[in-house]
Amino acid sequence: MITMDTIIKDPNEILRTKCEKVSLPLSVEDKDLLEKMLKYVRDSRNEELAEKYNLMPAVGIAAPQVGVNKQMTIVSVEEHDANSEQVTLYEYALVNPVIVSKSEKKCALSNGEGCLSITAPHEGYVYRSMRIKVKAYDYLTDQQITLSASGYLAIVIQHEIDHLNGILFYDHIHESDPWLEDENAILI
Ligand code: CO
Repeated sequence: MITMDTIIKDPNEILRTKCEKVSLPLSVEDKDLLEKMLKYVRDSRNEELAEKYNLMPAVGIAAPQVGVNKQMTIVSVEEHDANSEQVTLYEYALVNPVIVSKSEKKCALSNGEGCLSITAPHEGYVYRSMRIKVKAYDYLTDQQITLSASGYLAIVIQHEIDHLNGILFYDHIHESDPWLEDENAILI
């Protein structure tokens, strides 16, 4: 079982290693890993389980964070509809994801980003594309998908795909002026 005790922490070479493509159909071993990562993300948002098993709440996790340098990541984001109480869950188990297009328009989280693998504070804006289109095999639906995402969901997906390329969120923070405003970016 994945817990905060087993998640790989920065600095560790595993987090800086480019991940290998996964061959399809998925092996039993790869499916098992995706299931474990999915379970972590789902359980981490259940207060009781999070407390019991030492799980930090997460909206995503990538294979290198559990010690495997393969292109696999889970994204699980709940978006609140602006006009109603409705909450929609966007959940993907992406294998070999590729960003095929991205907007010039940028966005960033107003409080900066966080990561299960990073315990040291790294404050500042992480500017990312506002809209992206991603091609991947999705284990949850067992098909090749092309997904379009914007705003928060797009940020999470870009954060996770970065992990597969050995990139961590603070790599994107402006070194001398971490809260540098970008007039072309939207803060979320
Ligand atoms: Co992360």
